[in-house]
This record gives sequence, structure tokens and C-alpha cells, in this order.
Amino acid sequence: MPIPTIQWEKNLVKIIDQTELPIKKTFIKVTTASEMWNAIKQLKIRGAPAIGIAAAFGIYLGVRKFQSKDKKKFLGKLDDVCSYIGSSRPTAVNLFWAIDRIKRRVHVNSEASVHELKELVLREACLMIDEDNQVCRAIGEHGLKLIRDGHSLLTHCNAGGLATAMHGTALSPMFRAKELGYKIHVWVDETRPLLQGSRITAWELGEAEIPATIITDNMAATVMSQKKVDLVIVGADRIAANGDTANKIGTLGVAVLAREFGIPFYIAAPVSTIDREIKNGDEIPIEERDPREVTHGFGRQTAPDGIGVYNPAFDMTPAKYIKGIITEKGILNPPYKKSIGKIFNTS
Ligand code: MRU
Repeated sequence: MPIPTIQWEKNLVKIIDQTELPIKKTFIKVTTASEMWNAIKQLKIRGAPAIGIAAAFGIYLGVRKFQSKDKKKFLGKLDDVCSYIGSSRPTAVNLFWAIDRIKRRVHVNSEASVHELKELVLREACLMIDEDNQVCRAIGEHGLKLIRDGHSLLTHCNAGGLATAMHGTALSPMFRAKELGYKIHVWVDETRPLLQGSRITAWELGEAEIPATIITDNMAATVMSQKKVDLVIVGADRIAANGDTANKIGTLGVAVLAREFGIPFYIAAPVSTIDREIKNGDEIPIEERDPREVTHGFGRQTAPDGIGVYNPAFDMTPAKYIKGIITEKGILNPPYKKSIGKIFNTS
């Protein structure tokens, strides 16, 4: 049974602290917007869809103690909290999608009282969990069509249950295949520098009893050249209107290798990860993180003092490397401008 990443329980938000995995399964309570901001920034909760849901709850936590009945003041407060939560991480569009959705929900109910508006915000956040569960299960069903009994897959970073409310995106078809009794195996890229692959994906696959093997990121070329990979599925943080996709740093290398070795490379993501405002991947903002993640990972210095460090958390894979995008509405094929336009009815 997958673990819920984020829950509303006894008047507070409960999340699993992903920085403690795989050693400890620790749940923490988040009671204020600033605690949620920190949880997102420090990757206690992470993965594009999970960040979106966390943002929605963060907004609620930020407005729930608002005392006055003055609606104008409440809307001002809501805007401030939304901007604050939006400043936590820049790349995953789901964060901004969730913020816009909460704002819209409030604005279309402008007749409601401040108390009712606060309840609406909470209800919308809870609804996002239920919807995400349905969306991820649908991604699993669509992605299953690509998997054959006996397949060996490769994935990068973590686009599993813990990157969403519960069922995952890239891992969802693998979980579904396992449910149906397929014998599959997964190569798990360790995913430098924060090891979401070995710490989280490998742990999730182990819990689901799916055979998995960790490789360091620089080993993917070798296993692919040895014909040990049938299919690659990874997640996404933001997909531009032309299909260019930002995902965890290292994804681009995997995509280029897959092309070289003739292995189909797929993205799995909910439609909420598609940003039609962005025409191509060059416009996607890429988060740069603390250099110490590279030089002092997990408590040990591994580089000389004072050395220069470049630490982008994501890279952008051009659409030409992507064989298809698995969404809850089906698998989108190139040209993506057309297939993406079609699901939004704008092509
Ligand atoms: O920095 P992270 O751990 O939040 O990065 C996560 C990823 O890049 C995932 O692959 C992506 O968000 C897809 S999650 C279903």
C-alpha cells in the first residue's frame, strides 16, 4: 500500500520528511506557511505534483488565522501568502498552477464571507489530493501500454508516489505492471547531488517489491550499451507548449543516451505540469541550489575549500528526444505543439 505524501489530519498538515529516507520514515506536522515554505525549499516535500499540493495547503495555513471580516484585507493577505509560497522553488510549474487555482477559487466566490473563503481554500487543497490520486492512476494505465512482461526500465530522480500525493507519475505504470503480475526490473539512476533516485525511488520500488538496481548517473551509458534497458520513463517539472521538458538535472544526458542506443524515452506527467505560457524550454526558469549540496553532500566534504561550483537542479530535454508524454488524458505524440494544443482544445 503506497504511503500518502501529504495529508490533512486533525486540523494540521502531515507530511513524510523525504530528507530522512531511506533510513527513517518520519512524519512531520506543518502548521504555518513559513514551515511549509521551508519544507518545500529543503525538499522535505518535493516532486512537482506534491509541491503543488503542498503550496495549496501552505496558502491555507497562511490565511487560516486571519482574524478580520474585511474581505479586501483578506484578499490582500491571500495575495501576500501566495507570493511568499511561490518564492520557494521556481521550476516546477505545478506550484504556480496550484496557487492560481486557489486564487481563482476565491475570486469566483467573491460573495462568500472571509470564514467561508478560508474553508474553500482548505477544501480546494484537499480536492487536489483526491484529483492527483485519480490522475496518477490514469497515467499508470496509459503508461502500462508501453511495458511488456520481462522489460527492464530505467528512471531518473524520483517521480514515484512521494513526488505526488500517493501513486507517482513515471513509477505509476511500473506499479500497475507489478499489480498485474508482470516481471519487470528497474535501473535506478542514483541522481546526484541529492540522490532522490537511490534514497527515494529505490526505497519505493523495494516497498512495492519491484526488482531494482541502483547505478550512479555515469553508468547509464554502460547499461544501455549492454542492451540492458528496454524503456526509459522519467517525470517532469515543467513542459513547454512545444514539448521541451524540464526535469531533474541529468535527465538530458539520459535522453541523449537513449536516442544513441535506440531506446524509447518517455516523460510521464499530469496535464498540470504543462505550461502553455512557455513556448519552448529555453524560457523555463531553472533553479540553482546551494553549492554545498555538491561539495558537502550528506555531511562530508568532497571538494577543496573555495572551489567554484555550478549546481542547477534541473535541465531541459528538447522535445526531439521525447518519444511520447504519458498524461492522464493519454499518451501525447510529437509534434507536441499539436498534441498538447489538442488536449487544451486550442490546436
Ligand atoms: O528537486 P526535486 O526532487 O523536487 O526534483 C524532482 C524531479 O525532478 C521529478 O522528476 C519531477 O518533479 C517529477 S515528479 C512526479
